[in-house]
Amino acid sequence: MALARYKRVLLKLSGEALMGDRDFGISQERIKYMADEIRSVFDLGIQIAIVIGGGNIFRGVSAGSFGMDRTSADHMGMLATVINSIALQDALEKRGVQTRVQSAISMHEIAEPYILRKAIRHLEKGRVVLFAAGTGNPYFTTDTAAVLRAQEIHAEILLKATRVDGFYDSDPEINGDAEFIKKISYMEVLEKQLKAMDTTAISLAMDNKLPIIVFNLKQKGNFRKIICGEEIGTLISSRVVE
Ligand code: GTP
Repeated sequence: MALARYKRVLLKLSGEALMGDRDFGISQERIKYMADEIRSVFDLGIQIAIVIGGGNIFRGVSAGSFGMDRTSADHMGMLATVINSIALQDALEKRGVQTRVQSAISMHEIAEPYILRKAIRHLEKGRVVLFAAGTGNPYFTTDTAAVLRAQEIHAEILLKATRVDGFYDSDPEINGDAEFIKKISYMEVLEKQLKAMDTTAISLAMDNKLPIIVFNLKQKGNFRKIICGEEIGTLISSRVVE
């Protein structure tokens, strides 16, 4: 505990992060890896809340673009996040981590309803809380849900796990000289239209000064290192003082 820099954090995982090498769905190896990474932070005594996307099962935005009604597509996407949350819950509990899934869409037989005060009590009692079904509304991404829930539970930081190390000043796959950005302001992310998070999510974080670290969860130990204060990934915050 003495090592840790934060007491309460929200981890945002993309649905794709659960896919591993597969084209869709959930890779058993990948979900075990995620659960181990989360367990290593849980063991530090950190309160952890998690929001998972659903893109490994269903992508609301792309279905919308091929003609499906956006609201219907987003409902399907939200259900996909419930599937992912239950899968991660199972993997975490197999590792002795107590968890609770709370869903923004009522489905009592499967998950608790989202109740903020109850979520906070769960965290205080040392349970990892998985927030499923996004915000419960169409037209909002799970990134926005993550920012919203992080603020509601008063998380000190939102950790957005991605497949890349963070932001570069240009695409590192195209430009070999691309420079890594360690710190950036919300406004710059919006102005430069950097893709790591959608503008609604960034704006909401900016309005409430919620710091976000975009980092690569594929590198083993990164989540724990950040919690212990190592400067990994790109920090998005109000002002960038260099
Ligand atoms: P405490 O208030 O600390 O006792 O929390 P608790 O979550 O252990 O107590 P509770 O009696 O609320 O829940 C017991 C179990 O039932 C937990 O695994 C919850 O996740 C689950 N649970 C509680 N409410 C619901 C619900 O509405 N639907 C479903 N499916 N499970 C629920």
